Amino acid sequence: MDDVIGERKADHIEISLKENVQALKATTGFEDVNLIHKALPELEKEKIDLSTTVFGYKFSAPFFVGAMTGGTQKATKINAAIAEAVEELHLGMGVGSQRIAIDNPKVEYSFSVVREKAPTAFIIANIGGPQLVSKYGVKEAKRAVDMIKANALAVHLNSLQEAVQPEGDTNYANLFQNICKLAQELPVPVIVKETGAGIAAEEAAMLEAAGVAGIDVAGAGGTSWAAVEYYRAKARNDDVSQRLGETFWDWGIPTAVSLVETVKSARVPVIASGGIRTGIDVTKSLALGASLASATFPFLESATKGSEDVKKALRYLIGEVRNAMFLVGASSVQKLQSIPVVVTGKTAQWLTLRGFQPEVYARRKL
Ligand SMILES: Cc1cc2nc3c(=O)[nH]c(=O)nc-3n(C[C@H](O)[C@H](O)[C@H](O)COP(=O)(O)O)c2cc1C
Repeated sequence: MDDVIGERKADHIEISLKENVQALKATTGFEDVNLIHKALPELEKEKIDLSTTVFGYKFSAPFFVGAMTGGTQKATKINAAIAEAVEELHLGMGVGSQRIAIDNPKVEYSFSVVREKAPTAFIIANIGGPQLVSKYGVKEAKRAVDMIKANALAVHLNSLQEAVQPEGDTNYANLFQNICKLAQELPVPVIVKETGAGIAAEEAAMLEAAGVAGIDVAGAGGTSWAAVEYYRAKARNDDVSQRLGETFWDWGIPTAVSLVETVKSARVPVIASGGIRTGIDVTKSLALGASLASATFPFLESATKGSEDVKKALRYLIGEVRNAMFLVGASSVQKLQSIPVVVTGKTAQWLTLRGFQPEVYARRKL
């Protein structure tokens, strides 16, 4: 069983590195989110304060590297590289699903290496929603947290991926109850995250009611898990799953839509992710009310090379955030969360049809 999961984890990394697993026709919607250029920013670019405190932790910039991997040798290297980089830059990271190490403690180091290399960074443990239905409870969730001395635990929702895999765990019945229990009983903040198909207003409201500490929308427009499963199916001549992967490649709620819906429906910190590729995307996310943004795929290749490459990629992105904040005249993250934003096109249409009025799209105070 562990070997099977290990192999699957290795496949995910190899396929993501070699094939195009990004959305094809779906976009994040950030192309419809317009920031207003300020010809008179009235501030000094180098004095802009990018730091922000979320979940009781002070991030040097409103960004962390999303959940990716663990359980294999290559994953250990990837996790170590990201951890070293985020430690030096005072940021955070998520680890991949810890199911493999909960079931087999021999591979724990591929996760705990993260805390070893990043003693003070914000580290997010990770377990899968379907496992909360089938076999895990508070005890296993605590183990995942303890394994890496995590600051928070993410429960990932990946119904799209599970539904496309032949071996997928498609029992999502009563997951919500289990999330409620976890949110009440776990000693660290519980964040619920999607994995590339987004979270709608209805689920965001339910998750707030469950008592979760944060919601990571992980919407469509970036990495597509249907695409990853398409390539896995193709390699083993499984034409049924291959066809499912192809048909559902672009499935999901665009990230910008999911972000506005969630921000407007749940009074908890919201993380913008799914196709965040530049500092402009991060800046737009915060202007729409996100507390933090996150990206995963953009750090995969650099992480296979080492921490210097990850640091370089992070510095580019954070430099872009600073630049965009300068151009919109925001001297702090808090100020950025109250600048004007114009949402146009399909994103505005979608939100209007869902009952979100353009003039009140942006931000709400926590
Ligand atoms: C190779 C790879 C492995 C991933 N593994 C996990 C995982 O184990 N747990 C999880 O919550 N999300 C996982 N994700 C999903 C990401 O955390 C993120 O939600 C998704 O990729 C969308 O963000 P992106 O477009 O920036 O990649 C993985 C993503 C990639 C690319």
